[in-house]
Amino acid sequence: MNNFLTEKTISISILNIDDLNSFLSSLDIIRKQFNFDNIAIHFDVMDGNFVSNIGLNLDLIKLVHEYNFFVDVHLMCSNPKEYIDKAIKLGADNITIHYEIDNIYEHLKYLNKLKNKNKKLSVGISIKPGTDIKKIFNYSDMCDVILLMSVEPGLGGQSYINKVNKKIEMAVDMKKMVQIDGGINDITIIKPNNLGISSFVIGSYITKDISNISEKINKIQNIIKNERGI
Ligand code: DX5
Ligand code: ZN
Repeated sequence: MNNFLTEKTISISILNIDDLNSFLSSLDIIRKQFNFDNIAIHFDVMDGNFVSNIGLNLDLIKLVHEYNFFVDVHLMCSNPKEYIDKAIKLGADNITIHYEIDNIYEHLKYLNKLKNKNKKLSVGISIKPGTDIKKIFNYSDMCDVILLMSVEPGLGGQSYINKVNKKIEMAVDMKKMVQIDGGINDITIIKPNNLGISSFVIGSYITKDISNISEKINKIQNIIKNERGI
């Protein structure tokens, strides 16, 4: 996928997947069957400090990369520098870090330095639901992606926080790729889709019951193809 920054995409969060190999293999079949070239894998990394949980194992990036899925890495970590080099070496295509960490500027500078060497890398900045969008205006030149968290980071399966919708228009005005993460399903996706979000991180809606993932992915694809929802 080289359209992550330009097309509407679905980035599937694999936080709660036990057997990643068989999940990726089913997803690969669906992708080929329906010609979906806009599916990425969202890789949540948690350090037990920025968020209280710990996960995922960075080495799994290699497997995602081998399946040829775009690897969208979300570092919910106080010191992302500890993970960035390894993630890129294993095949990360996009790396998003949090505005709320110490030394955000230094971290973005470091990511941009790596991006200059590796043109296919994109850089994202994420804000928690309670963080004012204006706080990241100064960093927008250093980012390709703005990730709005629509749940508190650290856990899959939470409910979408509606007040985040208020930030979407201002984020879209920043002329970057705007992604939303947390609590997205076939209902909660409608409003952010209509407000101009272009990438949707989806975890439990798709991964909780994988018996009918093809139907659910098709449903989401139909919604995002249509600007005003269904
Ligand atoms: C939350 C993570 C999300 C999460 C999404 O901390 O960043 O990516 O796993 O999962 P759902 O869609 O279940 O909220
Ligand atoms: Zn995430």
